[in-house]
Amino acid sequence: MLSVVVLISGSGSNLKALLEAADNPLNGIRILAVGADNPASGLEHAELFNVPTFVVAPQNFDSREAWSKVLLENVKFYNPDLVVLAGFMRILPASFVSALSPNLINTHPSLLPAFPGAHAVRDALAAGATVTGVTVHVVDQGVDTGPRIAQVSVAVLEGDSEFELHERIKTVERQLLISVVRDIAAGNLNLANLDPLNQNHLAQPAAKNFH
Ligand code: GRF
Repeated sequence: MLSVVVLISGSGSNLKALLEAADNPLNGIRILAVGADNPASGLEHAELFNVPTFVVAPQNFDSREAWSKVLLENVKFYNPDLVVLAGFMRILPASFVSALSPNLINTHPSLLPAFPGAHAVRDALAAGATVTGVTVHVVDQGVDTGPRIAQVSVAVLEGDSEFELHERIKTVERQLLISVVRDIAAGNLNLANLDPLNQNHLAQPAAKNFH
């Protein structure tokens, strides 16, 4: 059984999908706790599944280091095999990342390395991209730069708003995230040993396709 702590900042649709996946014993996933950097509405999903939650808000600390130290203590209390950033919208300091690496993964709504950062969907639209997508990757000390695990492409449609495109990406994102966590649980994916050659392969759109 793969034990997981999930960190979120927002509505938690990816979290909800993970909780539903963990409900099926065949997936071999157990969500131990859900943490957030604010009283995020998505925490309600955890409560509905009777999963404990914690909030560690940066405003209550003098520095990012002090904040992330307490966040890490909360995560480590549960001693998870894996930590999933599912729409966690803060950059974590190197000390947090190295304490959990490589068992710390993130989902990002673009085909990385294209459009890193907090406004990936808006940036893809502004750049006139015709294809974007989603990437699940191991977190390293950069912003959305860690080794990529899996990607799926999503077409940008004429007249797409940021909301519409993001919602279509999120439909695919949920499935990709679950499939990656399930693969880790099944021992089919070793985060410490991702094939570097795979990185080039993944850079092609539609490495995995759920359409
Ligand atoms: C996801 O697209 C995630 O990749 C991005 O923010 C969104 C969070 O959605 N960083 P939700 O909170 O899981 O609904």
